[in-house]
Amino acid sequence: MRAEVIDGKALAAETRERVRARAAALRERTGVTPALGVILVGDDPASRSYVTAKERALAEAGMRSVDIRLPAETTQAELLARIAQLNADDSVHGILVQLPLPRGLDAEAVIRAIDPRKDVDGFTPINVGKMLLGQDCFLPCTPHGVLRLLEKAGTPTRGAHAVVVGRSAIVGRPLANLLARKAPNGDATVTLCHAATPDLAAHTRRADILVAAVGRAGVITGDMVKPGATVIDVGVNRVADPEAPKGYRLRGDCDFASVAEVAGKITPVPGGVGPMTIAMLLENTVIAAERAAGAPA
Ligand code: GUN
Repeated sequence: MRAEVIDGKALAAETRERVRARAAALRERTGVTPALGVILVGDDPASRSYVTAKERALAEAGMRSVDIRLPAETTQAELLARIAQLNADDSVHGILVQLPLPRGLDAEAVIRAIDPRKDVDGFTPINVGKMLLGQDCFLPCTPHGVLRLLEKAGTPTRGAHAVVVGRSAIVGRPLANLLARKAPNGDATVTLCHAATPDLAAHTRRADILVAAVGRAGVITGDMVKPGATVIDVGVNRVADPEAPKGYRLRGDCDFASVAEVAGKITPVPGGVGPMTIAMLLENTVIAAERAAGAPA
């Protein structure tokens, strides 16, 4: 294998330790414990495991989670009422509604109902608009984590050609925008590829930074990668494996073996982007609490 593996777990641990210290300092100064309302609707196994991981990480960082589990049959009105309660609760500084929501619920309306000051996911139209304009806001956690990983890897974005594969509202579109911003971790020339892009490989082969955020296991193969490129694999795909303890394995969007033969640096799955998403959520939550307490660090 040629590529150096970028250790997202280690970077996330460092970030979480900084957040823990910041939360402790806030508690010391003001008596406020940062708290995140976490809403999970339904019983999608992947969503349940993400939410559990987020709640565990909050506890480890000395923060509080207000865990709200609702059945899949929850109505839009019930869900909006829960969000209104959390909006009004001064002891709760952030609100996270795990996506996707079960069929029948209008995710756009639900996200819109979150107070932008508590929108630590960075999903509300206000925060997305601020991000596009380069204004101070909560950045969405996965794209923000990817920027931190690039920094940690020592891969400059300025002047680089970044190719983002996948145009989701949560990852691909915001990340493409952030990479193109006039900012220390931006200034890249960005190509955003998606399902309707003809000859995907012609684009990915020109990438100094290749971000795979498609949501399908192994779609990026070594022959699609420029030698020496930094490859960030956002995919977390459950692939059936009868020999694995849980009956499945997590696989990224990259075919790791072949891509790692060509790339200069690569994030693993698991242990790459996933832990950084959680770390950035904790960071946003402590920032929200500091602002609410009138005590920004
Ligand atoms: N579903 C997949 N990623 C995310 C995330 O970052 N936040 C929320 N709320 N839901 C998600």
